[in-house]
Amino acid sequence: MKTLQFDIITIFPGMFTSPLDESLLKKARERGLLEFKTHDLREYSLNKHRKVDDYPFGGGVGMVMNVEPIERAIEAVKRDRPRARTILLSPGGPTLTQEKAWELSREESLILVCGRYEGVDERVRLFCVDEELSIGDYVLAGGEVAALVVIEAVSRLVPGVLGDETSVVEESFSAPLLEYPQYTRPREFKGHEVPEVLVSGDPKKIKEWQRRAALEKTARVRPDLLKKLQLTDGDKAALRQLDLG
Ligand SMILES: C[S@@+](CC[C@H](N)C(=O)[O-])C[C@H]1O[C@@H](n2cnc3c(N)ncnc32)[C@H](O)[C@@H]1O
Repeated sequence: MKTLQFDIITIFPGMFTSPLDESLLKKARERGLLEFKTHDLREYSLNKHRKVDDYPFGGGVGMVMNVEPIERAIEAVKRDRPRARTILLSPGGPTLTQEKAWELSREESLILVCGRYEGVDERVRLFCVDEELSIGDYVLAGGEVAALVVIEAVSRLVPGVLGDETSVVEESFSAPLLEYPQYTRPREFKGHEVPEVLVSGDPKKIKEWQRRAALEKTARVRPDLLKKLQLTDGDKAALRQLDLG
């Protein structure tokens, strides 16, 4: 059985207490599939006041996180886990994708470094981490929430964490298509009926409907994804029939 270890370097370890101790992540941890450890960056400060930031060279608003405490914290974790892959959460990094989440889920150890203030000294990126990762084109106040997003996206792909492994194969971005619309009881809500085919009991027709619905949703909402997809003749025919307004 494989265990994926997450080490999180942050000035706010308390932000991880509840999210990592609920639901899927809690169960996976209890079953030995995941391990989480937070490391308070201030413990690695070189300053008697436990400061980990300073004024930016060249001026400008806000403070910048020092490189040395971050380097010392990473080195301390790596003494136990020398093969850990080290990631700096940063809006300037490449954006997290489902493909990247799959790649990270195959690692045995990930170190996530959370920035704060105006960001981190550039030498963290150059000398201390393997890569940067953004969770989207917007700016958060700190890397903690971004680290939690990475943890959740990656953890659910670790074998055994989800009960039904097929669910991660069929869902959005795995194809790469958005997932088809899902329905459960009641069959009718505010005059909107569940598509008849889904209650037909015909697995072939249901599969065809799901593929068509996924193509339609992707074409409407994320047409960029279709460029990466190997379209079958059936897919092309289905797309031709769509009225995308
Ligand atoms: C206020 S932000 C710094 C933003 C920086 N001044 C800039 O313009 O790129 C502070 C920290 O939050 C984290 N952060 C903010 N937005 C993020 C995003 N979209 N993805 C990942 N981390 C993010 C990073 O760790 C960053 O160092």
